[in-house]
Amino acid sequence: MCGIVGYVGGEVAAPIIVDGLRRLEYRGYDSAGIAVHDGESIQVVRALGKLKALSEALGDKPLAGRLGIGHTRWATHGRPSEENAHPHVAGGVAVVHNGIVENHIELRSELERNGVVFRSDTDTEIVAHLIHQALDGGAEDLLEAVRRGLSSVEGAYAIAVLSQHEPTKIVAARHGSPLVVGCGEDEMLCGSDIAALLSHTRDMVFLEDGDIAELSAGGLRIETLAGQVVERQSKRIDWSPVMAERGGYKHFMLKEIHEQPDAIAATLRGRLDLEHGDVYPAEIGITPEAATSLRRVYLVACGTSYHAALIGRYWIESLARVPCMVELGSELSNRDALYFDDDLVIAVSQSGETYDTIGAVSAAKEQGATLLAIANVLDSAIPRLSHGALYTRAGPEIGVASTKCFTAQLAALLMVAVYLGRRRGVLTEDQALEVLQALCEVPSQMNELLGDADYVRTVATHLTHATDVLFLGRGYHFPIALEGALKLKEISYAHAEGYAAGEMKHGPIALIEEGLPVVVVCPKNSSYDKTLGNVQEVRAREGTVIALATKGDEAMHDLAAQIIWLPDAPELVQPFLSVVPLQLLAYYVAARKGHDVDQPRNLAKTVTVE
Ligand code: AGP
Repeated sequence: MCGIVGYVGGEVAAPIIVDGLRRLEYRGYDSAGIAVHDGESIQVVRALGKLKALSEALGDKPLAGRLGIGHTRWATHGRPSEENAHPHVAGGVAVVHNGIVENHIELRSELERNGVVFRSDTDTEIVAHLIHQALDGGAEDLLEAVRRGLSSVEGAYAIAVLSQHEPTKIVAARHGSPLVVGCGEDEMLCGSDIAALLSHTRDMVFLEDGDIAELSAGGLRIETLAGQVVERQSKRIDWSPVMAERGGYKHFMLKEIHEQPDAIAATLRGRLDLEHGDVYPAEIGITPEAATSLRRVYLVACGTSYHAALIGRYWIESLARVPCMVELGSELSNRDALYFDDDLVIAVSQSGETYDTIGAVSAAKEQGATLLAIANVLDSAIPRLSHGALYTRAGPEIGVASTKCFTAQLAALLMVAVYLGRRRGVLTEDQALEVLQALCEVPSQMNELLGDADYVRTVATHLTHATDVLFLGRGYHFPIALEGALKLKEISYAHAEGYAAGEMKHGPIALIEEGLPVVVVCPKNSSYDKTLGNVQEVRAREGTVIALATKGDEAMHDLAAQIIWLPDAPELVQPFLSVVPLQLLAYYVAARKGHDVDQPRNLAKTVTVE
């Protein structure tokens, strides 16, 4: 959602800030703005719409200072408009903000009673007024004023602030929303995530909740909200700036689909013990004793990560023989769920910042459950909250529609299942070895599949004008059907439904009529015959079958209008492969329709609100 970038150093700030905002575009936004201190005063330029509009506005009014803050806004309080775009200015204070001020109604009324006239509908402007009032009320410097201003703010926030009277500093603070400081040579940056800062530095300090940081060209000072000076170690990030570039692909999403074999290989690297049929437990944070005495596993996630979790359940139940529940973060936080000390809760999240998932797993942790994070973003909120963190190593995922993080999550979940299965005495060394060997084969089988991407593009031409598409699958491929439908609706805006193939007779069969496209995931496996029966039922009602079938499956020729061939692979790892053509299908349909594939309408990459 909203993105923050700040710069202080020897270079002209505006182009650096706009470049950083561009790298945060994927988070989703509807307006943008920038404030620069030019040595005398703070100049603000804002624009409704995409960064192109901001750049045009900056063309008319170039900003020359070496200190500034910028923002991309995803509207929550107040419609998308130039007036509601950040930065918001009160007196000599400019603020950009990510998050929500929960007590905004009472704070706004109180400020209005004291004579403040608001120029926007946002909760952020309240923060600007509070900081301005603190400065007026005698705060000795901006850092102190931010501390005083925030003392009455409830909710989640990350902010960056400039003051007219301190032309060499940015003050940044975080509580519940991510904020990273990049430490360059004689320059400091801050940003909502590391992708915004990578082209300047790979040395990052991850602020903790309650931190207030003062950034100047010469250094960084961090205090807590209570006024105590704290040291935060800087971390060297191994993502290179090139990883966040499109690298010759038309869209990030297409590049990321093609990066999946590498993302999986990287996620497995150094974590498998192929001599003893095991995985290295270090980061999992579950002791062998805890693994043995587990009562239940909960997998908690949203969206695409939820689909990965659904597949994780099949593995955890069959390889570790422990009851496993899969929960949507957004629903679980509405329930008064019960946890026990011997429950393991696994939060699956690409961004590690999804508000709904954080809320749900925090409650579980409070009740004593052990918390494991599977996340792609280093030091993000969910890993920080958890007892252990198993990072997927997919590299930066910029396309809003998640692809490589999904298959990297699958790799992590399968490793967890094997780890638990071995500790619990369910899997022998040989059985575990068989699973891990199959997993190691996945990257090359995926490469083989990706070699046929052009064929999927031709299949996609049949779906360009489809308004409704049904996706069916069984077992491991039921979540894959859900994911195929989600991908298609996210970026092509067609109505798509994923269903368990066995449920078809219980309702969705009523939808099938002549020409309705039905994508059936039907590789050779233990449920093949049943799924083939569903293919026949669709055909009998004159639906148009697009089948995903195992190479050499002759029976499918007579039934399906289009067939996308999958490599022959053990059932357990088939979902890694069957999802790839569905990602490509969604991509090519959306690209053919001319949609903004990487930033589909209304969606944000990191959903930091409820
Ligand atoms: C994926 O294509 C979606 N954009 C979305 O469903 C996403 O998976 C969901 O918001 C969860 O995000 P997370 O993995 O960062 O927690």
